[in-house]
Amino acid sequence: MSLNNPALRLQPADGDGIAILWIDCPGKKVNTLSVDLMPEFEAVYNAIAANAAIKGLVIASAKDTGFIAGADLDDLGQVSSAADAEKLSKGAQEGMNRLAALQIPTVAAIHGEALGGGLELALACKARVASEHRKTKLALPEVMLGLLPGAGGTVRLPKLVGLANALDMMLTGRNIRASKALKMGLVDRTVPPLQLLDAAKALARDLAHGRVEPKKKPPVKDEVQHFLLEGNPLGKMVVLREARKKVIKQTKGMYPAPLRILDVVDKGTYDAEAKGFGELLMTPQSAGLRHLFAAITALKKDDGPGTDSTRARPVQRVGMLGAGLMGAGIATVLADNGVEVRLKDRDHTAIAKALDYARTVYGKAKKKRVYGQAGVDERLARISGGVDWAGFGRAEVLIEAVFEDLALKQKLLAEFEALSRVDGIFATNTSAIPIAEIAAQARHPERVIGMHFFSPVEKMPLVEIIVTDQTAPEVTATTVAVARKMGKHVIVVKDCAGFYTTRALVPYMSEAIFMALDGYSLLDIDEAATRVGFPVGPITLSDEVGIDVGVKVLKTIRQYYGERMQLPPDVSGKLLEEGRYGRKNNKGFYKYKNGKSELDNDGRKIIDDTVYKHLPGGKGSKHADFAEMGDRLVLGLVNEAALCLQEGILRDAYAGDLGAVMGIGFPPFEGGPFRYVDRFGARAIVDRLRALESKYGKRFTPCALLVDLAAKGGKFYG
Ligand code: NAI
Repeated sequence: MSLNNPALRLQPADGDGIAILWIDCPGKKVNTLSVDLMPEFEAVYNAIAANAAIKGLVIASAKDTGFIAGADLDDLGQVSSAADAEKLSKGAQEGMNRLAALQIPTVAAIHGEALGGGLELALACKARVASEHRKTKLALPEVMLGLLPGAGGTVRLPKLVGLANALDMMLTGRNIRASKALKMGLVDRTVPPLQLLDAAKALARDLAHGRVEPKKKPPVKDEVQHFLLEGNPLGKMVVLREARKKVIKQTKGMYPAPLRILDVVDKGTYDAEAKGFGELLMTPQSAGLRHLFAAITALKKDDGPGTDSTRARPVQRVGMLGAGLMGAGIATVLADNGVEVRLKDRDHTAIAKALDYARTVYGKAKKKRVYGQAGVDERLARISGGVDWAGFGRAEVLIEAVFEDLALKQKLLAEFEALSRVDGIFATNTSAIPIAEIAAQARHPERVIGMHFFSPVEKMPLVEIIVTDQTAPEVTATTVAVARKMGKHVIVVKDCAGFYTTRALVPYMSEAIFMALDGYSLLDIDEAATRVGFPVGPITLSDEVGIDVGVKVLKTIRQYYGERMQLPPDVSGKLLEEGRYGRKNNKGFYKYKNGKSELDNDGRKIIDDTVYKHLPGGKGSKHADFAEMGDRLVLGLVNEAALCLQEGILRDAYAGDLGAVMGIGFPPFEGGPFRYVDRFGARAIVDRLRALESKYGKRFTPCALLVDLAAKGGKFYG
């Protein structure tokens, strides 16, 4: 940023004395707050203070992409000590304090995203107006980067919206939409987008003429409750203590940022905030989470191999083959994003169930006020279904999610080719079958592609797109665009059995079975995984995904990788024989009743002990060695991920990191398996793998890529 190419433009005061400060970071799609912008702000504030004609100020973005998306993360990457990071935060606080100290009414006009530093700037204004647009979102998402709001947010937000609301925003990083923001007092007014600027000017004018008072206190529905909970020191202590308990329970103390946020809010000073920010920026957790953010940014630009000179075809209609668990989820998310969906299943009951699924998901959004009944109806109207191919001829893309059965998938592909548009795309949601085999008898293998979703589709943020040697770049680009339209992060990988995510997950899941066979308790196995940062352990995951589904995947993988993968002896046959499928039929490794986990007096899930009769190691009495168990779970996965990069299944390490975290629950604060190797060093990882190899066999033999990297002392990320 320079004065020749400024990001800030001060539009002179109008007849009422209201000036507008336009923010437009040059050469960037979205506005971000960077260090070199500070002198510009300083100069503008000086100019405003010196100009008696300016009676009020509106701050607005000149970009239609949004208000301000937060601080520039490149600035954070440059900092190498907690002291320097603290200084950075202090500088930002001073800038915001300068704005807050202006003697005229200042109003932020917010359309689109006001995130992090962007929201903190709005908080430093005397009032805020937001556009009633779906794109308008206010949030302090620093916690997701292992940080805390460092530009005055921890001090200003609780004063504006109350302690409980402020903690909720800062501890979750959640997006607040305009209507909710108004209700909680985060903004003063909401208006349709086209009226935003006029409304902000009018509010500045009214404030300047003393016609309205700037909001000082959060709206209190129940004065007494407010006083008891947070309006006095004792109440504040109780709120903070409860929040701390909840954070420790949810994060197992593995994420320092939320705990630090609580400390800083307790102190309530700018100094505490800057110090907390400085120290958090230096934690490995923040480095891991910021790495993940960098991966997301980089992968947004990757549409897959050969797509540089092609464009995605527009897609308005999708045919959905199979209306089971996955088909229903995929249809729901497609229709939510404006796509018309035609479902086909074997009977009408399946279609009705899928519609119920969509109704439930949209109902939840309605309850959260994301949209009203009209929004629910409009979405449901986009989904129709039947038992024949009617309506499929017009679909630009067909997504297949029938049973995991190669012959069935091939048969349906042939039927689709016989009736479809000349350029119709067949995207299969198989879990592990190579796409090339599904396409083996296709007339147009160039139109066949893998589109691997994760369950539950409306919650899981990733889609893995699998291209064969024959998939046409235009087909890849179009499928990637459909997944992005559904709001998903995308990785594009090369075809093989299990692709990337399933392949990387298999060693983790099968190691859990090896450990169970060794005699470890199933509870300890899950505990070993959550202790290293997986959101759930492998035993819980089996129950959630379905033991039958897991078994099918293991069988496919065994068929293709044979000896190399070294899978555990098949105990699953006995489990399936006795109808043990997992949570879905209330019979899994854990105990369930009506789809809900049974809990003991301490609120912990209970293992169904009868399962131990199938495990030769017995009742799970082996003393847990959590450090080694954690290594066994993580390192097999890391090694397989590296092998996928070595074989070119992954196009780069970023895709491997994002895929593992978003698809299979690799600990987010580690930033993914490749960053995990970089953090500990390839040498140390190879040594640990070798130690496990000598104890447990060749499933832990480090792959050549890791061995090479260790020998060279290299890293995956420069
Ligand atoms: P599901 O059993 O819930 O649904 C499959 C649906 O396909 C059923 O409704 C069935 O009636 C229907 N179907 C079977 N033959 C059909 C035919 N000839 N014509 C039309 N419909 C037919 O299974 P789910 O879990 O939805 O899995 C579907 C596919 O997605 C499988 O290939 C699975 O491996 C894959 N997958 C599953 C994931 C999971 O977490 N369950 C995750 C990712 C992929």
